[in-house]
Amino acid sequence: MEKIIVRGGRKLQGEVDISVAKNAVLPIIVATILNPTEIILKKVPMLEDVTVLINLLRELNCEVKFSPITGDLKINTSNLREIEANNELIRKMRASFLVMGPMLARFGRCKISMPGGCNIGSRPVDLHLKGFKTLGIDSEIGYGYVEAKVKNLHGNRIYLDFPSVGATENIMMTSVLASGITIIENAAEEPEIWDLARFLNSMGAKIEGAGYGRITIHGVSELKQPEPFTPIFDRIEAGTFMVAAGITNSKIAINGVNQEHLMPTIEKLKECGVYCNMDGEKMIVDGTGEKRPVDIKTMPYPGFPTDMQAQMMALLSITKGASVITETVFENRFMHVGELGRMGANIKIDGRVAIVEGVNNLTGCEVKATDLRAGAAMILAGLVANGQTEIGEIYHIDRGYTNIEDKFRKLGAEIYRTYR
Ligand code: UD1
Repeated sequence: MEKIIVRGGRKLQGEVDISVAKNAVLPIIVATILNPTEIILKKVPMLEDVTVLINLLRELNCEVKFSPITGDLKINTSNLREIEANNELIRKMRASFLVMGPMLARFGRCKISMPGGCNIGSRPVDLHLKGFKTLGIDSEIGYGYVEAKVKNLHGNRIYLDFPSVGATENIMMTSVLASGITIIENAAEEPEIWDLARFLNSMGAKIEGAGYGRITIHGVSELKQPEPFTPIFDRIEAGTFMVAAGITNSKIAINGVNQEHLMPTIEKLKECGVYCNMDGEKMIVDGTGEKRPVDIKTMPYPGFPTDMQAQMMALLSITKGASVITETVFENRFMHVGELGRMGANIKIDGRVAIVEGVNNLTGCEVKATDLRAGAAMILAGLVANGQTEIGEIYHIDRGYTNIEDKFRKLGAEIYRTYR
């Protein structure tokens, strides 16, 4: 079983390069289904989730060439065939439910497994299906499958009860090829939505307002071959390294940061005593000062990202005083609390609220990555813990971070992977 081993106590220094965003690249890969031509994506990170999607497209008869060294990903979906209902790759990753919309736009029907529950909550797809319905798509759930059909894909006004990232992306992709105009109200505003629209527009889609709460899509009948496209950098990976500087009392530089996308994280870190400032293209993170406890409430963008909650909790667990963390996006995203507790953290949970009483130090032990960002939090805690931390179930970490131990080692951390 693969493990990541961290020996705590080293200060970090130097620079780290951030990769392209997992949450931007996954929907963009799926969006190639809409356009049967050769499409080139640049700087695609070598992530488990990317591999799952590449394998899915290959199984569906698409031509896919990936060079993990350059990050060039060439996709041609001209020979795409319909998906098999019980496809295992679809079940493996929730983001693959995004294929539903583009498949419906292309074939007029699609049947796939319901995405399973996962560690961080039940994650239903009702908002995706509600949006589909207004576009003329009938869907039915039964025997573990979602089956949907459409005769006349047409634009409409859609109001989302919650600004779901996945539902916004699925509806936006589908309505690109619908007749007429679609307006998504209360759309998710995450930068990755804006980036998906930038990609779709580069193929001739007509989308306005992506990145804001109202998105307008003027349907087109076909798309054109786009120029090679590079998605945005990963704000959550950048945020993870920003917290790393704070937790190790270090000063580091981060390349590949869009400051605006990171505003909620930058502001909370500042309140905590970690200062992030741009110096030309680099972000300098100074985590050498005294830290203060902070209260955090996760929210849809531009609120504080749920994907940074576990990492911040690791930092606050060794910050003197009491911090309160409220998770409003997912109902069960405190799995890492038990693991941090094994390392000596003092955290109590009451429903969606965690009260973190900072301790003087953490101690290394065997822990596991209970989900992707929880895994990142374990690495962060390990960097500062006394002794050795052994992190298991690291396949979660590999889903969303490329070469994470190499990046930390380059910054001076004592971290390596074992393959026992
Ligand atoms: C995306 C991100 C994930 C991030 C999350 C919230 C990708 C690949 N993943 O996930 O990293 O943590 O946004 O920022 O981009 N919900 C419903 N019904 C639906 C859809 C969602 O109730 O039909 C609920 C979910 O259960 C959850 C909340 O809405 O409680 C947010 O989910 P959503 O924004 O859809 O997240 P994802 O797109 O799955």
